[in-house]
Amino acid sequence: MMLQVMPQKLKLTNDRLLKALSCQNTGRPPVWLMRQAGRYMPEYRALRAKYSFLDMCHQPELVVEITQLPLTVFGMDAAILFSDILVIPEALGLGLRFEDQVGPILERPLKTPADIAALPVLDVSDSLSYVAQSIRLLKERLEVPLLGFAGAPFTIASYMIEGGSSPALKKTKQWMLRDPVSFHRLLEKIADDTIAYLNLQIDAGVDAVQLFDSWAHVLGHVQFREFSLAYLKRIVEGLKPRNVPVILFCRGASVFAKQLAEAAPAGISLDWNTDITQMRLTIPQSIALQGNIDPDLLYAPKEVIQKELDRLITGMKGDKGFILNLGHGIHPDTPVDAVKYLIDAVKRYGD
Ligand code: CP3
Repeated sequence: MMLQVMPQKLKLTNDRLLKALSCQNTGRPPVWLMRQAGRYMPEYRALRAKYSFLDMCHQPELVVEITQLPLTVFGMDAAILFSDILVIPEALGLGLRFEDQVGPILERPLKTPADIAALPVLDVSDSLSYVAQSIRLLKERLEVPLLGFAGAPFTIASYMIEGGSSPALKKTKQWMLRDPVSFHRLLEKIADDTIAYLNLQIDAGVDAVQLFDSWAHVLGHVQFREFSLAYLKRIVEGLKPRNVPVILFCRGASVFAKQLAEAAPAGISLDWNTDITQMRLTIPQSIALQGNIDPDLLYAPKEVIQKELDRLITGMKGDKGFILNLGHGIHPDTPVDAVKYLIDAVKRYGD
C-alpha cells in the first residue's frame, strides 16, 4: 500500500514564548531582547560595513542571516524579524534613507491634508513581498518562535509628518490638535495598511507580532486614548480572526498599561519605570507582561545584573505569562559579555 506523504508543519523545539503569551508557561520565563540583532554585535557591524541598513532589510538572504545572529551567539528563546517599522512609509513612496549619527529621514514628509489624500493604496503583496519571502526562509530554519512587527499608527504618522526622529513631535502634535479630522484620516489609513502588512507576515509564518508605539509618551492620557489606543485596538481586532498573539509596546507604557489592557492584546511590554509585580495586580492574568529591565543595566557589573534579575524573576515567580525583556531597545554600545551573562543567567533559573 502507498503511504500518502502529508506536508509536515514545522515543529518548534522551543515554544516557551508562545506558552507565556497564552499565559500557560510553568517553567522559567522566556527571554528575548528588543533590537537583539543590532550594532552591539561585532558580527552585525561586520555585515553593516559591507551593506547599507536598508539593503540589509531588503535582501531576504541577509535578513535571514542577521535575524539568526543573536540566536547563534546567545541563544534567546525567540527571534524577531530583522527589518524596520519605517518600511511602510517607504512602501507608500515617502523616500526613506538612514544617515549615520542622524537616523531615519523621510525625503517627502506629509505637509498638508492633500498629501494624505494623495497617498497610494498599499499593495503589500507587491511592495513588501521581500518581507514575506524573508519570513518563509526563516521559518525553514528557526527552532524558536519568530516575531513579526510593525509600527503603531501614531508613531508611523509622526515619522511621516516630521520626516525623521524629532524629540517633541511639534509638527505632529500641532497637526493633531489643529486638524484632528485629517489626522484621524491618516491614522486610519496607516492602521488599515498595517493590518494588511501584518496579515502578510502571518500568512508567511510569523508566530506572534509586536506593535511598537515608540512615540506614545508625548501624548497626554486623553490624547493617548483618542490618537493611539483607538488604532491599536483597531489592529488587535483586525487580527483577532488570525489567532496570532499580539504584543503591544509603548514607550511610556507604565502610564498607559491599564488603557492598553482594554485592547485585550496577548501581551503588554513594559518600560523600566514601573514595578512589574505591582503592575501585575492591575493587569488581567490573561494578558502576558513583558519587560522590564533598564537597557542601561547592561553597563553594570555582573553582580548588579544578577541582583536585578533575581529581584525580577523572584517577584514574577509562578506567573505563567511573564516574558523577560528590556524596557526598550538594547543600546549599540552595550558590552556583548553583559548580554551573554544575562541570557545565561536567565537559563540558570531552570526549565
Ligand atoms: O529588534 C530587532 O532586533 C528587530 C529589528 C528592528 C530594528 N528597528 C532594526 C534597526 C526593530 C523591531 C526596529 C523597530 C524600530 N525602528 C522602532 C521601534 C522600536 C523603538 O526603538 O522604539 C523605531 C522607532 C524605528 C525607527 C528607527 N530605525 C530609528 C529611529 C533608527 C535609528 C536610531 C538608531 O537606533 O540608530 C533605526 C535604525 C535601526 N533599526 C537600526 C537597527 C538595527 C540601526 C541601523 C544601523 O545599522 O545603522
